[in-house]
Amino acid sequence: MKLEQEIAKRRTFGIISHPDAGKTTLTEKLLLFGGAIQKAGAVKSNKIKDHAKSDFMEIEKQRGISVATSVMGFDYEGIKINLLDTPGHQDFAEDTYRTLTAVDSVVMVIDCVKGVEIQTEKLMEVCRMRNTPVICFINKLDREGRDPYELLDEIEEKLNIKVRPLSWPISMGKTFKGVYSLYNKSLHLFEASRRQVEEGIEIEDINDTVLDDRIGEMDAAQLREDVELIEGVYPEFSIDHYLEGKVAPVFFGSAVNNFGVKELLDTFIKIAPTPKARETEERTIQPGEDKFSGFIFKIHANMDPKHRNRIAFLRVCSGKFERGRNYHHIRQDKNIRFSNATAFMAQDRETVDEAWPGDIVGIFDTGNLKIGDTLSEGEKGTFKGIPSFSPEIFKEVVNLDAMKSKQLEKGLYQLMEEGVAQLFTFEMGAKKVVGTVGALQFEVIQHRLKHEYGATCKFVSLNLYKACWIACQDKKKLDEFIKSKYRHIARDKDGKLVFMAESRAWLQMVQDNYPDIEYHFTSEF
Ligand code: G4P
Repeated sequence: MKLEQEIAKRRTFGIISHPDAGKTTLTEKLLLFGGAIQKAGAVKSNKIKDHAKSDFMEIEKQRGISVATSVMGFDYEGIKINLLDTPGHQDFAEDTYRTLTAVDSVVMVIDCVKGVEIQTEKLMEVCRMRNTPVICFINKLDREGRDPYELLDEIEEKLNIKVRPLSWPISMGKTFKGVYSLYNKSLHLFEASRRQVEEGIEIEDINDTVLDDRIGEMDAAQLREDVELIEGVYPEFSIDHYLEGKVAPVFFGSAVNNFGVKELLDTFIKIAPTPKARETEERTIQPGEDKFSGFIFKIHANMDPKHRNRIAFLRVCSGKFERGRNYHHIRQDKNIRFSNATAFMAQDRETVDEAWPGDIVGIFDTGNLKIGDTLSEGEKGTFKGIPSFSPEIFKEVVNLDAMKSKQLEKGLYQLMEEGVAQLFTFEMGAKKVVGTVGALQFEVIQHRLKHEYGATCKFVSLNLYKACWIACQDKKKLDEFIKSKYRHIARDKDGKLVFMAESRAWLQMVQDNYPDIEYHFTSEF
C-alpha cells in the first residue's frame, strides 16, 4: 500500500534542449516554484562556454557543477519531482542519452526565434527509441520570434511527432501580451516591466467581452480566430496519446520572466507519467513489485584525484531501496551492501534511508559498479536500454611513457566505465581507439589520465566513419565476414564485435556484399 502511494507521488523527468534555448533558466524557475531554492541565480549552468573549450579549469568546474546538479529533487503540490540534469554541451551528448534512460518523461525547451535546432533533433530521436512522453515549452516569447503555427509545423516535421498546443500566445516580442490556456480556458497576462506573473483570469466563453477589455479588441479578435482554428485543426488533447509518446502537448512562455512556467508545472504534475515499468532481458518489471530492483545510468568520478572513489547513480525501478541492505550485483554475481547511499535535493546531498521507484540514489563506489549494471534482491536479468551509440570522432591512443603503460591501461578502462568515451580494441595488433561524440572529450581524457593516473598519451586522428556492431544468425557467415574484414574488426569494452567502417560509401558497399550480416549503430539491438 505504501509502495503504491509512493509511486503515485513521483514524477521523474529531464529537461532537454539545444544549448541556449533556456534549459538552465527553466530548471531554476521550476526549483523556485518547488521551494527548493530561494533565489534566482542559484542554479549554475553546466555549460562550457565556447571560449573555454580548452580551458581545463573550466572542464573541472563543469564536472563539479554537474555532480552538484545531476539530480534535483523537490516537492510541489504533494508530488515528489525528480529532475535529472543533462549536460548542455553537445560534446557530452552521450551522457545525456544515458540520462534519458533513467527518466519517465521529458520537457523539451525550444527557442521561439531559432526553432528546432540540431541537438533538439538528436535528443528527440533518443526519446522516440523508448516512446518517452514529451512536453514542449516554446521559450523566449518576449522576443520577436517565428510565427507559432510555423514553429508547430516545424516541430511536427523535424521531430517527427504530432503536437497539440495547450496554450496560445497573444502576440510576441515587444507586443507580447500573454498566453491563453486552452487547457484551463484562462488568460494569463504578461507584465514584462514588473517581471511577475499575474493570476490567471478564467474565461468560460472566449467571446466574453472581458477579453477585449483586457487585451484590446484587435488582439482579442485574433485570439478568437486562432483558438477556433487550433480547435478545428488539432484533435482534442489525449493524455493516453501523450503517454504513448505519440503527441507532444505544447506550451508557450518566457522562462527568464517566469512566464508560462507555473502553467507548465501545474499541467505537468497532472499529466506526466508516474514511474513506468521497465524491461529486463527476461521480463517486464512493474514498479509496484515488492522486491527492489534498479540500474546504474551514470558514474561520476570523485573530484579528488587522490581518492579514486566514484558516485554511481542508481535509478530505482521497483520495490523499496533500503540503505545498509545487501543487494545482488548481477554482472558480478555477488551481494553488495550499500551503507552510504545518498539522495539528491536541489543543492544538497543527504543520506537517504529508503528510496522508491522513480528515485535516484547516489552510491559511493570504489570500482564495483559500471554503467548499465543492475541491482536486485536476487533476481537475474539486466535492465535493457542503455545502449552505446556509434561515436563520431575516432582517435588512436599512443602511449608516450613506456614506464606507465599499466597506468594508462587502467586509467583508460576506468574513464570508459564512467562513460567519458568508448574504447575499441582492434583484433589485429590490439590497436586502441577512443571514440567520442565531440572533440572536447579527448582533452578531458588526456588531462585526467595525466592528473589522476600519471599517464601521458597522445591521440592520433583516424579516418573512420562509424562503428557498427555486427551480428549474424549464421555463425559460419559471421566467421567468413570477420576473416575477410579482419583489419577492420574491433571489440568494444564488453567484448562485442564491431566493424569499423571507413566511409559511408564503403560501408554501403560492404553491406551490399554481405547482406546476411546485421549492422547496428548502437550496441543494443
Ligand atoms: P541553456 O541552459 O538551455 O543553455 O540556456 P540558459 O537557460 O542558460 O539560457 C540561455 C540564455 O537565454 C540566457 O542568456 C538566458 O538568460 C536567456 N533566456 C532564457 N529564457 C529567456 C526568455 O524567456 N527570454 C529571453 N529574452 N531570454 C531568455 P545569456 O545572456 O546567455 O545568459 P545570462 O547572462 O542572461 O544568464
